[in-house]
Amino acid sequence: MRRSLSLARLLTAALFTTPFVHAHLAAYTDGMYCPENSYKGPLKNTTDPNLVVFDPLFQLHYDSWFLSKGRNCLLAEPTGIWEIHANSVISVAWANWQNSTGYYADGKEENQRPIPYSVTNPEVVAQGLESSSKGLNSPNLHAANKTTAAGTAIAIAYEDDVYNVTMDKLVVFSIAAETPFERLANYTIPDLAPCDECICVTGWVPNGFGQQNMYMAAHKCRIVNPNGGRVPKTPSLVPGQGLLALSK
Ligand SMILES: *[C@@H]1O[C@H](CO)[C@@H](O)[C@H](O)[C@H]1NC(C)=O
Ligand SMILES: *[C@@H]1O[C@H](CO)[C@@H](O)[C@H](O)[C@H]1NC(C)=O
Ligand SMILES: *[C@@H]1O[C@H](CO)[C@@H](O)[C@H](O)[C@H]1NC(C)=O
Ligand SMILES: *[C@@H]1O[C@H](CO)[C@@H](O)[C@H](O)[C@H]1NC(C)=O
Ligand SMILES: *[C@@H]1O[C@H](CO)[C@@H](O)[C@H](O)[C@H]1NC(C)=O
Repeated sequence: MRRSLSLARLLTAALFTTPFVHAHLAAYTDGMYCPENSYKGPLKNTTDPNLVVFDPLFQLHYDSWFLSKGRNCLLAEPTGIWEIHANSVISVAWANWQNSTGYYADGKEENQRPIPYSVTNPEVVAQGLESSSKGLNSPNLHAANKTTAAGTAIAIAYEDDVYNVTMDKLVVFSIAAETPFERLANYTIPDLAPCDECICVTGWVPNGFGQQNMYMAAHKCRIVNPNGGRVPKTPSLVPGQGLLALSK
């Protein structure tokens, strides 16, 4: 079943729900703003007490959470560009450091944890890996297991000036269901129109298992598509599992 949901609804829905614990994950790409996790220069106008890109955006005003602006991330320019090939599958690390490795975001390999990694596995409980909110606590994924991981999304604005990006210009073009769970989340990229420099946005709205929160970060991205492709329509439908609502 396909659910009709704009990125705006996805993110603003998170603002009006409550209850929590920190998860601290961001999508790391070559084009991310805040490439060193936080802005290192003199802070100009911070409206968010958390200054690190992987901190949750919680109970903040729009100007603070939108693109993580309130933590001055837009002043910390990307050091590169996130190159995305249309009609491919890409892997993106959801982690809390650029150098994170391992199967899970906290560096652990798959075989270093009970399998299945689920609170319904007694071995997970025995090892103290269940949180008070009945989710996994290490890393805190806001999920009890893979099937309860909320999913993450990538949106794009065909716009090269990050300050000119507004919510209504952002179109979700890929979601990865049941992420973040492993450190690497895989996204199916549709037949997007090429763009030398656009703004892509990664988002995650965890679904319970701790205090509600959300994550939204901006990236400079380049869409490579030698065969043309299409500019996705605005506002978008959040696609079911890698499908895309493109303009006709
Ligand atoms: C500081 O940021 C807030 C929120 O983004 C904005 O409303 C305000 O105009 C800014 N003030 C200055 C002096 O830049
Ligand atoms: C990874 O990066 C973090 C933050 O920059 C640093 O504290 C840590 O030592 C690094 N770890 C490795 C293994 O390089
Ligand atoms: C995942 O966790 C939920 C909530 O605890 C549970 O109901 C469900 O059975 C689990 N699924 C799997 C596949 O372990
Ligand atoms: C900003 O967006 C508006 C409306 O889409 C557009 O007309 C304008 O050219 C853009 N400005 C820049 C500097 O990109
Ligand atoms: C994601 O893709 C990588 C290869 O890039 C693969 O190793 C990994 O198993 C995939 N993860 C999932 C959850 O499908």
